[in-house]
Amino acid sequence: MRSLTKLMAASAVAALALTGCGRADEDTPTDTASGGASGAAEAFPKDALIGVSLPQKTSENWVLAESLFKDGLAEAGFKGDVQFANGGVGEQQNQIQSMVTKGAKVVVVGAIDGAQLGTQVKAAKDSGATVIAYDRLLLNTDAVDYYVAYDNFEVGVLQGNALLEGMAAKKPAGPYNIELFAGSPDDANAKVFFDGAMSVLKPKIDDGTLKVVSGQTSFNQAVTQGWKAENAQRRADTLLSASYSSAALDGVLSPNDTLARAVITSVKAAGKPLPVITGQDSEVESVKSIMAGEQYSTINKDTRNLVAETIKMVQALQKGEKPTVTDTESYNNKVKVVPANLLKPLIVTKANAKEAYANDPTLSKLTQ
Ligand code: BGC
Repeated sequence: MRSLTKLMAASAVAALALTGCGRADEDTPTDTASGGASGAAEAFPKDALIGVSLPQKTSENWVLAESLFKDGLAEAGFKGDVQFANGGVGEQQNQIQSMVTKGAKVVVVGAIDGAQLGTQVKAAKDSGATVIAYDRLLLNTDAVDYYVAYDNFEVGVLQGNALLEGMAAKKPAGPYNIELFAGSPDDANAKVFFDGAMSVLKPKIDDGTLKVVSGQTSFNQAVTQGWKAENAQRRADTLLSASYSSAALDGVLSPNDTLARAVITSVKAAGKPLPVITGQDSEVESVKSIMAGEQYSTINKDTRNLVAETIKMVQALQKGEKPTVTDTESYNNKVKVVPANLLKPLIVTKANAKEAYANDPTLSKLTQ
């Protein structure tokens, strides 16, 4: 564990601002399936109902997760109830409640707003179900048993480093003019991504290497409500006309691919040269953009692995065993530290795209 993690563990409830920025340094499980002595009773039937409640389709990873969960749960012998909550928080609340009523033994939640599902996940726990937070942490509740996600803080660190490297490759010496974009403030991940990136960028802002010309350096100033492309595009339009009529924009921190492409659209419409711009999710259009030399970087968080790890957790629970946990200190949801299974994200630029997507049937075709 690095010191940030220790600090957070020590100041558990007090460290609200850092919620969820924890990290695990090891890839190896520290607490693997050990609870199931052979012959122990199954915790629930092999064909039990498993609920999966996904948020809005704000990026391709969520769409991919749907079919992966449906097929993976069916293959494992479970009855899957996989749903999106495109209508918003109220719909997601009803969805989880109905999964509980139908007798789901595990409820997997990718929350729209991680702080608004306390009542429903408590109902799930009260019914005897296990609650797994998927990709996004559930906040302000003790009714969450496990968290499975790519390491969000590390995603931000990788984005911050990529931004610096991309700008240095184009223009060896600073200062560099940059702007910062963050995700939706109701998504617990958004602040963690931003904090990870700022752990790299802030010292460079402080020493003058980087200049945020708009002056908008706080998370609250950088957020993009609902992770919506149109909101990022509108903000980029405003920033460009207000702060870049004469200054050159060298780089943009974008938390994901959808927003990166929105910023690129805005810059093109303004007739300016494209800055170095980061992303996340390895969306098809962004991988194409990277190969065409427009977007600079993305992050590979292979959804197939994340869903597979989640289903492995469900299988362990079904057998009455403890699922794999790689981190028991970092993910403080303001009520408890949630045991987490953290996967390692990978930075992808044009330089390593071929290798990074070699085993991805869709993306490997784009890197030939
Ligand atoms: C996910 C990102 C995604 C974003 C918007 C986040 O919680 O971790 O991968 O880009 O949501 O959908």
